[in-house]
Amino acid sequence: MDAVDLAAQLRPDFVLGVATSAAQIEGAAAEDGRTPSTWDAFAAVPGNIRDATSPTVAVDAYHHTADDLALMKDLGVNASRFSLSWTRLLPDGRGPVNPKGVTYYDRVIDGLLEAGIRPVVTLFHWDTPAPIEERGGWLRRDTADRFAEFAAAAGEAFGDRVADWITLNEPATVILDGYALGVHAPGRAKLFGAIGAIRNMLRGHGLAVDALRAVPVKGRIGITNVHTPVTPATDSKDDADAADLFDFIHNRLFADSVLFGKAAELPRGSKGIERLGLKFLSRLGRDAAVISRPLDFYGLNYYFPSRVAAGADPSGSTPDGETEAMKDVPFTLAKFPEYPTTGFDWPIAPHALGDTIDMMVNRYGDKLPRILITEGGASFPDVVGADGTVDDSDRIDYLAQHLAVAAARPEVDGYFIWTFLDNWEWAAGFTQRFGLVHVDLDTQARTPKKSFGWVRDLQRARRAARR
Ligand code: FCB
Repeated sequence: MDAVDLAAQLRPDFVLGVATSAAQIEGAAAEDGRTPSTWDAFAAVPGNIRDATSPTVAVDAYHHTADDLALMKDLGVNASRFSLSWTRLLPDGRGPVNPKGVTYYDRVIDGLLEAGIRPVVTLFHWDTPAPIEERGGWLRRDTADRFAEFAAAAGEAFGDRVADWITLNEPATVILDGYALGVHAPGRAKLFGAIGAIRNMLRGHGLAVDALRAVPVKGRIGITNVHTPVTPATDSKDDADAADLFDFIHNRLFADSVLFGKAAELPRGSKGIERLGLKFLSRLGRDAAVISRPLDFYGLNYYFPSRVAAGADPSGSTPDGETEAMKDVPFTLAKFPEYPTTGFDWPIAPHALGDTIDMMVNRYGDKLPRILITEGGASFPDVVGADGTVDDSDRIDYLAQHLAVAAARPEVDGYFIWTFLDNWEWAAGFTQRFGLVHVDLDTQARTPKKSFGWVRDLQRARRAARR
């Protein structure tokens, strides 16, 4: 879609931003007192990362702050969502604040403000301090207290300037991929035994909200989770029950706790699952009030819909890689042969973003605060052509279609493109390029892609319309 046509569909106050995360871009892993996170430890184990790479250098954003800020200013987005490395700010995860870490993020935040870009800070984008993980990580109750201390330190340091705070990014992914299936750090495959970690993470979220408000920070406060609309693969009762179980695990378990302040009802046909310990996770007990603190916005990440069939998948495949553990769960994620796919083989279905928003609005009603789509985007095998440009027209189509859907929903205040720079894509290493800006991994040279020019045109057209 033409950028100018789309510009007319976005409300003047609709926030168009880009999103990144510390572990995926910063590098400078041992600089300035930063200590290892779970992802440094996970990447050091052979076989965990598809291309055997690590976050040690990533795309070296730490040493490219000024250049990257200049590019972002040229892009003309309204907001930049980035995360704070817990161990850069609090080495080993606790104790006194590292002044060099504060200096680095001051540079980023002040640079954004000078460029007229809203700083949106994620406190936890998956990089748990390694020593905290060694003591049990999110399976331990007091990790929530450590996280609240980190939130307080961040609030003290940056609370006068940050526009929006996001406590946790995608707790569902951390629990499911990191603790239940082991395809992400910390690489534990506890299946339904990962359930206790949910309550601890969500308690950490609530305590962090309290800590930020106690500072008090100026900005708004929310949480981000990833949601997916779930449909059964066939109209059989077994597939319907499997889809209901997946919807429970992926959507209701987290959002019901945070927005309703109560545990989600157990799914239909969950008898076998209860034996696996699922019942335990449905109790929030005395933490319910903390977990459901009122929020200023709800961050929703959307990438693709899910189609679920009953029965274990003999190939053990998940959207984030294959694993033995997946062979032991009683459902299979089926394909969507009718949709085109991204480089990650994720189905491209923009209408399903609309279904996700509707699902949230219908289920949570007036308990749902304003929505920000805090991530959406696509990886493609982008290459720099002979003429020095990167033609990623497929990404432009993806963004145009998804943005149009988001902007048409009155409940949605903004959309953050994942992502600004090609980056280190967790267990997929550098095999997936999601950026508006191409990064040469040998030289760290930045080349804006065609999609970068398209976003810039879109923003220029929006500004021109306001004059
Ligand atoms: C999301 C993560 C983000 C990135 C995108 C592709 O689940 O929050 O860091 O990996 O997927």
